[in-house]
Amino acid sequence: MIQSVRGTKDLLPETIYQWHYVEKIFKEVSEKFCYNELRTPIFEKTEVFHRSIGEATDIVNKEMYTFEDKGGESITLRPEMTASLVRSVIQNNLLNQNPIQRLWYFGPFFRYERPQKGRLRQFHQYGAECLGSPYPESDVEIILLADSLFKSIGITDYTLKLNSLGNEISRDNYRKALVAYLKSVEEELSYDSKQRIETNPLRILDSKDEIDKKIVENAPLILEYLDDISLNHFELVKKNLKESNIKFNIDNNLVRGLDYYCHTVFEFQSNHLGSQDSFGGGGRYDGLFAQLGGKPTPAVGFALGIERILIILEKLEKFKDWNDHVDCFVISLGDASITYAHSVAGQLRERGLIVGTDLIRRSMKAQMREANRLNAKFAVIIGENEVNNQSVLVKNMNGGDQVEIQVNEISNYEF
Ligand code: HAM
Repeated sequence: MIQSVRGTKDLLPETIYQWHYVEKIFKEVSEKFCYNELRTPIFEKTEVFHRSIGEATDIVNKEMYTFEDKGGESITLRPEMTASLVRSVIQNNLLNQNPIQRLWYFGPFFRYERPQKGRLRQFHQYGAECLGSPYPESDVEIILLADSLFKSIGITDYTLKLNSLGNEISRDNYRKALVAYLKSVEEELSYDSKQRIETNPLRILDSKDEIDKKIVENAPLILEYLDDISLNHFELVKKNLKESNIKFNIDNNLVRGLDYYCHTVFEFQSNHLGSQDSFGGGGRYDGLFAQLGGKPTPAVGFALGIERILIILEKLEKFKDWNDHVDCFVISLGDASITYAHSVAGQLRERGLIVGTDLIRRSMKAQMREANRLNAKFAVIIGENEVNNQSVLVKNMNGGDQVEIQVNEISNYEF
């Protein structure tokens, strides 16, 4: 039997309602914040990601699904959205129409990672990006939007980790100091971290290796290298968050796995997840537009892993008592009733009701069982008598009482 590709998952009817629920609420909350949806193709020219995420990152180095298409072009399945979104905004001149663009997205992404719980090769993200403002209030708006999304689906006990990487000058100065320190302890570092000293030293700060972690404890602190502009930006972000009652923990070692960040970076973590405890993250990326050939444009955003959010919701027993909500199940008995039953089902659907029907000519008992399985509120029973009388029997599946009504009254009957 042919199996699905490792690290991918079928979303079966029995759980798809959870996805619909999250998607619906996230759309509604995004709209409340005046964010508009943007959809881009699932693949891009590989260059889009090389020029944005960074050559030395794990994503570009090890995790991209890259292939040559039949025309000889290098194509990559998108590993994240920010680069694609910025490409699209530049290409479609969206910022000429409005100097602020607030955008959200939802869809599949692809990374060749080692699969485990909460880590897939095709996974899904919701994300939001606020383009065009250099001011801390846009960093704060984006975090407030994330907080509203979490609260609206019942996640209140998460941790927000916050750090600042400062502007380019601060980051370069810090990088130099960090490299000098790491070189002084190079022999003790893990193999991976040794490789990263020159290519991606900041990434060593969030190494999972126990010895690396000890070494990092004595590394120079990024906050000590922030210049006045960067410090001021960070102070205002923190002040605004406090005033908005958003709790956060400063984590000096939070650098994130993508190269385009500057100033504010943040991550959302949950105790309900195992080792993959981060269910979302983001930050400011003021340099990305220019890197992708656009007019320099300040921007900030975040993305959330939907599979990880669903794990949290499961742990919170959010979906414990959820049932299908079929309004009526139309039971048809005997060949003569089939067409009539489908016409009745059609009338009920036109009223906006959710209506199930039988398609395999089951017995009365078996169709009643099906109505129960679907949690139908009413069974609408049609046998030969009802066809002859142009009526239907309506049985309340909770109360049990049963009434006969004429089919021409069906549009007025209170189900
Ligand atoms: P990221 O931290 O790479 O950031 O991914 C965001 C979230 O996507 C993660 O926190 C995680 O929940 C989920 N995720 C990532 N990889 C996987 C995977 N293999 N399996 C399951 N879930 C995964 C970004 O993608 C940035 N584009 C965020 C951003 C937007 N920054 C600014 N704007």
